[in-house]
Amino acid sequence: MSDTATPTVIRREDYAPPAFLIDTVDLEFDLAPERTVVKSTLRVRRNPDAQPSAHLELMGEQLEFIGAAIDGKPYANVRAHEHGLTVENVPDAFELTLTGACAPEANTTLSGLYVSSGNFFTQCEAEGFRRITWFLDRPDVMATYTVTLRADKLAYPVLLSNGNLIAEGDLPDGRHYAKWEDPFRKPSYLFALVAGKLVALEERIQSGSGKEKLLQVWVEPHDLDKTRHAMDSLIHSIHWDEQRFGLELDLDRFMIVAVSDFNMGAMENKGLNIFNTKYVLANPETATDVDFANIEAVVGHEYFHNWTGNRVTCRDWFQLSLKEGLTVFRDQEFSAAMSGGDENEAARATKRIEDVRVLRQMQFAEDAGPMAHPVRPESYVEINNFYTMTVYEKGAEVVRMYQTLLGRDGFRKGMDLYFQRHDGQAVTCDDFRHAMADANGRDLAQFERWYSQAGTPRVSVTTSYDEGTRCYSVTLTQGYANGSPAARETQKGPLHIPFAIGLIGPDGADLPLRLEGEAAAHGTTRVLELTDTQQTFTFADVMAKPLPSLLRNFSAPVIVDYDYGNDELAFLLAHDSDAFNRWEAGQRLATRELLALAARAAAGQPLEINPALVDAFLRVLTDESLSPSFRELALMLPSETYLAEQMAESDPAAVHTARQFVRKQLATALKGEWLAAYERNVTPGAYEPTPEAAGHRGLKNLALSYLSELDDAAQAVRLATAQYDSANNMTDRSAALSALLNVQAAGGGDVARKALEDFYVRFEKEPLVIDKWFALQATQRGTAQRPTIETVRALMGHPAFNIKNPNRARSLIFSFCAANPAQFHAADGSGYAFWADQVIALDALNPQVAARLARNLELWRRFTPALRDAMRAALQRVAAEAKSRDVREIVEKALA
Ligand code: TRP
Ligand code: ZN
Repeated sequence: MSDTATPTVIRREDYAPPAFLIDTVDLEFDLAPERTVVKSTLRVRRNPDAQPSAHLELMGEQLEFIGAAIDGKPYANVRAHEHGLTVENVPDAFELTLTGACAPEANTTLSGLYVSSGNFFTQCEAEGFRRITWFLDRPDVMATYTVTLRADKLAYPVLLSNGNLIAEGDLPDGRHYAKWEDPFRKPSYLFALVAGKLVALEERIQSGSGKEKLLQVWVEPHDLDKTRHAMDSLIHSIHWDEQRFGLELDLDRFMIVAVSDFNMGAMENKGLNIFNTKYVLANPETATDVDFANIEAVVGHEYFHNWTGNRVTCRDWFQLSLKEGLTVFRDQEFSAAMSGGDENEAARATKRIEDVRVLRQMQFAEDAGPMAHPVRPESYVEINNFYTMTVYEKGAEVVRMYQTLLGRDGFRKGMDLYFQRHDGQAVTCDDFRHAMADANGRDLAQFERWYSQAGTPRVSVTTSYDEGTRCYSVTLTQGYANGSPAARETQKGPLHIPFAIGLIGPDGADLPLRLEGEAAAHGTTRVLELTDTQQTFTFADVMAKPLPSLLRNFSAPVIVDYDYGNDELAFLLAHDSDAFNRWEAGQRLATRELLALAARAAAGQPLEINPALVDAFLRVLTDESLSPSFRELALMLPSETYLAEQMAESDPAAVHTARQFVRKQLATALKGEWLAAYERNVTPGAYEPTPEAAGHRGLKNLALSYLSELDDAAQAVRLATAQYDSANNMTDRSAALSALLNVQAAGGGDVARKALEDFYVRFEKEPLVIDKWFALQATQRGTAQRPTIETVRALMGHPAFNIKNPNRARSLIFSFCAANPAQFHAADGSGYAFWADQVIALDALNPQVAARLARNLELWRRFTPALRDAMRAALQRVAAEAKSRDVREIVEKALA
């Protein structure tokens, strides 16, 4: 981390190929926590396709230089400096040996080589390898690696690296070694090593072509009872990638290792994926249904990277979405398939709804602020700040649009051509687009704008029906939502938007679709291709005025403006054959109502519930033809954060008042139905993490949560207490505790105290569960007498709190700052002062994590004036005190 007055901006247009290439890497590690010595031997040659350079400039950070040799002879013309090592006047091709040391135990950044619970781990993406040894640490330099690990045998019995184990044995002084060889060329960011006291769940399977594969899930010994689900998820991932994309596991051995100190979710190092424990460890007592689903998704994601990311990697970090957008799309499709089979549209819709919720809540917000950037950014100061919702989630939507435009088979053809052309290469987003276009004989030139333009597109829809000609015209007009200046700068022209549409007749049934000029009707959903700023599409043979079902299955990441009436939304909610749009209709209805109520709350006017909303909810809740998981999603109100972002000026207090009011009204009006839903969805017997059982639990616990809003909460307390005491799984136990906390916050006495204490004692030895304990308290509602910040401040002093552990910091600090808007945005500015303190504290320990927290105030300009001023003051304090490039980039962009 370094103090930079004028930050260096890295620009996409400045890309130049490396002056040197490295073909082979041989690494020898003498592992010791205080000081690990690393000897690196590289076969280097001048790149024939680059500007020649006399000197070899290697990147290196926080390294102690010990010595250098060229072709075996000591070489003195080297200069170690803050950013690396200059090897002067090198020949055209040579063997370079570099010896250096790093300090793993003192490394709190969790980037490079570090120690967690006494074991060694690495994290090299994006630029962590340079913290281990000097290197051309950029993804277009690909080499084959051999790695020798030496360490004390008692303290570090397990020694792992990428690829295949080719030798192991004992050494003098109680030490031992292991030698690994990775047959595949890879960029340095995919290097990994792990060493320590670990045990593995093992499984041998046959891959599609009949080869035997060894699968291992490595954890600390006390966690072995929580590895089965991760292993099953891995096996499912392997089979799915063979079936759906014809992609087979290319190594004899595939390892997953869990570590409790980790900056993100997981990392796809070749053959040696390293995971945050949160995305590996699960058993019914400790993990919720959501945890089980997340583990399946993340295990899939990292496994799928083996082809999309590793076999074909990124030329430079501006192309990050090439691997991340594509791999998120693949993991979404995998999860959808797992939750109901490829053919079950209703089950697939549930997953789609969840993904779109995240996109709209998080990525649309990113587009509206100072960090707005295209899926393929043009510049960055710190690449770690660009592992974003836009690169990942919007990037996945962009990939999904190819499939929507080309069909599943066309998309598969494009993928096949992509691997045919680029296996073993470091390539660009353009290369991917060209493969899709060429494999399908399509012109996708305009589609490029999805990669280069930031901001959330907006499609306005007008319709007209002509009874005489029985024609129904739909006019689509595209533009952009009122985004930030950062986004507006990039907007150059209309996008190529696949816009799926259906027409619903007065009886609620889909109409067959025939566009003017077509010979016959076909299908009931049509993907219109909007390529101009404005286009009109006319449907013929429409016997009565239909209701349009717009952007079915959310066919493009856009906002749709269409002036539906409340009764029309209720009709869509009841009848649309597109499950996504049924949900969407309910959300539109609820959002409209909640925003109107928030405006009244802000103006101090009395609130009243619209009976139409109650009626719509009643119908969904009692419609037994709908799956429980769909009903749960449809009955969940839009989040406070999402609602606040829809206001001209965000007013979290008003939104909270409105949303709580609606929750209580819905609880009261539908009390009998909630109780019935609760009873009908209990899942007796042994816990099963199946989508069906999870759906029942989800709806049951949503019912409990509504019931906890009742003025007379006695019944909710009885149900929640009984559920807490008798639960045989974490989903039910944590939902019960949450309901009790809810009643308690509403002034119902200290009904949660006992359960909260019990929860801590019961799970004291399970860090991931204690994270939940912190998070539940950080996200609880506050009262005038006891605002939540006081609880949070007290918990910061709890013996189990540890700011150095990212999961723990996230469970308390991030939960409060990002998931409790009404309390965080307290009028007295106390939340912002707390936020600034924590960003500054984290900045000195772990800039990556600090920068994530720093982003929490980036939408400050969109809030009410009083909050805006307090937020700016907090940002200015961070800007004055933070040192890391990571945090500085965020707060400086926010204040600019
Ligand atoms: N490539 C990883 C993934 O998406 C994420 C990742 C990037 C990461 N940088 C990281 C993980 C740093 C941990 C730490 O799967
Ligand atoms: Zn990824």
